Amino acid sequence: MKILGIETSCDETGAAVIDAANARAGSKDHCYVLSNVLATSLPLHGTTGGIIPEIAAREQIKYSIPVIKQALGQANITHPEKELDAIAVTIGPGLIGSLLVGVETAKALAFVWNKPLIPVNHLFGHIYANWIEPKFLPHSISKKAPISFPALALVVSGGHTDLVLIQQHQQVKWLGGTRDDAAGEALDKIGRLLGLPYPGGPAIEQQAKQGTPKAFRFPRPLMHDGSFDFSFSGLKTAVLREVQKEKTLSPQCIANVSHATQDAVIDVLVTKTWNALKKYSVQSLLLSGGVSANQTLRDAFRSKIEEQNTSINFFAPEKELCTDNAAMIAAAGFYNPTTIPWQQISANPELYFD
Ligand code: KG4
Ligand code: ZN
Repeated sequence: MKILGIETSCDETGAAVIDAANARAGSKDHCYVLSNVLATSLPLHGTTGGIIPEIAAREQIKYSIPVIKQALGQANITHPEKELDAIAVTIGPGLIGSLLVGVETAKALAFVWNKPLIPVNHLFGHIYANWIEPKFLPHSISKKAPISFPALALVVSGGHTDLVLIQQHQQVKWLGGTRDDAAGEALDKIGRLLGLPYPGGPAIEQQAKQGTPKAFRFPRPLMHDGSFDFSFSGLKTAVLREVQKEKTLSPQCIANVSHATQDAVIDVLVTKTWNALKKYSVQSLLLSGGVSANQTLRDAFRSKIEEQNTSINFFAPEKELCTDNAAMIAAAGFYNPTTIPWQQISANPELYFD
């Protein structure tokens, strides 16, 4: 079946078409991306050092129809009213103005094309990016190992840091999350302190490559407290104190601070996730969210798995599917296909896991 996904929870405007099918005897589920289009107001927000919600929403009003048109075109869909099977749209969490643009657009299209409408939780979207097949494969070849349940998912994005246990599709238990800043949010704020471009996460990853290991050591809050909660605001304060000590920030100092910041974030994420893996015997570990595009984080999980010699299956989405996109929303819609009449759908900026 073909699903149009629409994503506008933050500053991006995304539309994608996926082609997905349930497993039949002798085969397995598959979920291919036919198109995945993203318009971003990042250049505008790069100059402001962060997202201004009203600017984001106004840009999304301009982009939404052209982006959807492009996604349908790239998927070779000429008669969406005949060729599409459903429309999946992010209803939350996110910025209310931005969410409304996507939800209202999806609602109008579902009405006009007479299509089922699937409301999607953005956080599930990030997790379901793991079910999408790698790019550039002929449709008949499915390379991905099947994701077996129960699975543990770590969602690390600009707005969230959560550990969730997935027993089955649509059966999710939240184990813990951040008590203050999300991991990505901390990286973005630290990036700003260091004078790096927005968003800070990828910039810190680049800088860290030139950094001297252990030149600084920053705190790892809650790392050994036995909970599955996180806290990253203290890290930002520790970096601020270090930065204030320096008269001018030399390029090497920026690289060293970036290295130590990334180390601290990764250490906490891996340690806490590992504690959850030990407590709940799961078969798969799923990394997701914008921060999971970080290669050092992905490598740290792989090394830990090798070092511990466990049989756990580790998954991380392709890098371009880690950050916000509409293909992941369509995929989540496929695996959690509860539809809603268009008259009843509404955006919920506070939506969470339960
Ligand atoms: O998932 P996402 O696109 O948006 C939210 O739902 O929040 O995540 C964006 C976050 C930003 O904080 C950004 O700095 C971070 O993901 N990020 C990274 C990397 N790429 C994006 N953090 C570390 N390393 C990266 N390579
Ligand atoms: Zn996101």
